[in-house]
Amino acid sequence: MANEKLRAANVAKKDEFYTQLADIENELKHYKQHFKDKVVLCNCDDPRVSNFFHYFSYNFEQLGLKKLITTCYKSQERDLFSQNDSERAIWLEYFGDKNNNCVPDPEEIGIHYFKGDGDFRSAECIELLKEADIVVTNPPFSLFREYVAQLMKYEKKFVIVGHQNAISYREIFPLIKDNKLWLGYGFKGGAGHFISKYEDTATAGDHREGMIRVSGVNWFTNLEIQKRHEDLILYKSYNTEEYPHYDNYDAINVDKTADIPMDYDGVMGVPITFLDKYNPDQFVIIDAIGRYSMINGPTPETQGKYLTDINGKHRYARILIRRRQSSASTYPQPEETTLMAAEKQEGYGKE
Ligand SMILES: C[S@@+](CC[C@H](N)C(=O)[O-])C[C@H]1O[C@@H](n2cnc3c(N)ncnc32)[C@H](O)[C@@H]1O
Repeated sequence: MANEKLRAANVAKKDEFYTQLADIENELKHYKQHFKDKVVLCNCDDPRVSNFFHYFSYNFEQLGLKKLITTCYKSQERDLFSQNDSERAIWLEYFGDKNNNCVPDPEEIGIHYFKGDGDFRSAECIELLKEADIVVTNPPFSLFREYVAQLMKYEKKFVIVGHQNAISYREIFPLIKDNKLWLGYGFKGGAGHFISKYEDTATAGDHREGMIRVSGVNWFTNLEIQKRHEDLILYKSYNTEEYPHYDNYDAINVDKTADIPMDYDGVMGVPITFLDKYNPDQFVIIDAIGRYSMINGPTPETQGKYLTDINGKHRYARILIRRRQSSASTYPQPEETTLMAAEKQEGYGKE
């Protein structure tokens, strides 16, 4: 029991770090067009320290937001708003600047108390989630699966920070495959520097005062971004020496995303980092493999075989893709979907 508690405390401690304003600005500058007239929810954010709250409250007018809601898990003392009720969780709502000083003043921010602890899964928080159009935060990594499942359940748009390990979670990968979730622009050098009270978790050599470096973090979103519609320029030609076939799976192996052959129409296994360059107009994702298929799991046919083996040697996990035959026209864009459906209707466009 004591061990259980210690483990839970350690997990919670690792979840307790804060995103830098510069990283939020760097990512969100690519999504500005999505925020007009929208209700934004930051639901893992103590407003005293959350730069998400800071970003959206200070950019409220510029983004044209309708409302900002911020919920704080087990609110600590709230000296920012000079009300000393340390035990109760709160949530805030902000409708923009009223006195034209371009600053979110405490009297412009509505403070409400939760009955519970402000857990994003609680009924009270779910009511606020239902109100939201776009959810933006860095949720606790330890609850990432549940966090994303809830966003999916309530069909919310989102931009959230997560660890790239999540790509290969059984709950997350199918969403990526089905174009329900994709990677954002990312952190410089693939690592985030987060503000932390727990400096002891810093990796040796990467230590900065009050900060931890977390490699492999990324942004996960389901909002359209330009990057996702940029073609990867291919220049290599397929040949059997450079692109061997897997022993136990009908696909060829490609070791580097940049080396994807431009003239191979079959299935190719590419590194996980491919996702950073993935354009659904150009490629289709079919599965991911390592020991097993990510989509099918172990099956009687594949039991005991390692799917990325080449001449009996295991290769790293791979994402399986295929080139689209005619690029751009095949992946339905939001606008195109309606148009194409209309065009298919009998008599459309005729006198
Ligand atoms: C990685 S930190 C990020 C904090 C803040 N979003 C930011 O980016 O600066 C995750 C936050 O989620 C909070 N948290 C942990 N469990 C939670 C839960 N069940 N519901 C809501 N928030 C939670 C933690 O207290 C922590 O502040």
